[in-house]
Amino acid sequence: MRRKVVAGNWKMNNDLNGTVNLISDIKKEMTEKSLTAEIIVCPPFTNLETANALLKDSHIRLGAQNIFYEESGAFTGEISPSMLKSVGSEYVIVGHSERRTIFGEDNKTINKKIKTAIRHDLKPIFCIGETLKEREGGITFKVIETQVKEGLEGISESELKNLIVAYEPVWAIGTGKNATPEQAQEVHKFIRALIQKIYSASFAGQLVIQYGGSVKPENAAELLSQPDIDGALVGGACLKADSFIKIAEAV
Ligand code: PGA
Repeated sequence: MRRKVVAGNWKMNNDLNGTVNLISDIKKEMTEKSLTAEIIVCPPFTNLETANALLKDSHIRLGAQNIFYEESGAFTGEISPSMLKSVGSEYVIVGHSERRTIFGEDNKTINKKIKTAIRHDLKPIFCIGETLKEREGGITFKVIETQVKEGLEGISESELKNLIVAYEPVWAIGTGKNATPEQAQEVHKFIRALIQKIYSASFAGQLVIQYGGSVKPENAAELLSQPDIDGALVGGACLKADSFIKIAEAV
């Protein structure tokens, strides 16, 4: 059986105080609950070190929201893999649709970032998903296939042992309009079959594929009960400890 993973993408929310408060609330919310899902929080860069210290005595894992693909040098404003490692990041989100659309990241850039993360033993949470226009144009599978193939190009199965894929339809992110469990399952199944074609059945069979896009306590159980949905990447609902942990409980 595949493990279940629930990750909270805080995006550009919470300053240092907010981070201390939210992590302490999450820890309180988790006490005396026996959660089976692995829980990851991804605060902004500036709060990773503090978050890491606060999470030391818990089972909660730490992730960053982005990474740059160079090791060091004249790249004003960027954060290197070793910087992320040095403040305790275990995971890193790569290719989020907001990075793709607002900051112009393409599949080539994302591929470099995944390779860099792997080289530094950071576990990538690789985000893919179609826009509304692409879905309505009937090219969802084609878009997903291109994102997967180009994003993972030149990376071997053994290098991807810590990979998590997050299917996040862009039209569902932050809109309150989640994909139906059937819509999500259809794409998750497609992704798993594609990974099987590119790599192997055993690798595809154990790959964690999260769903993301307006996941809330009210819809989590139904989405997560689908056979190919192995967890959630949560934005808005992860900013309140009770709703984040309710989603983890739904797994
Ligand atoms: P949302 O964001 O839960 O607010 O839709 C999900 C994401 O962007 O990862």
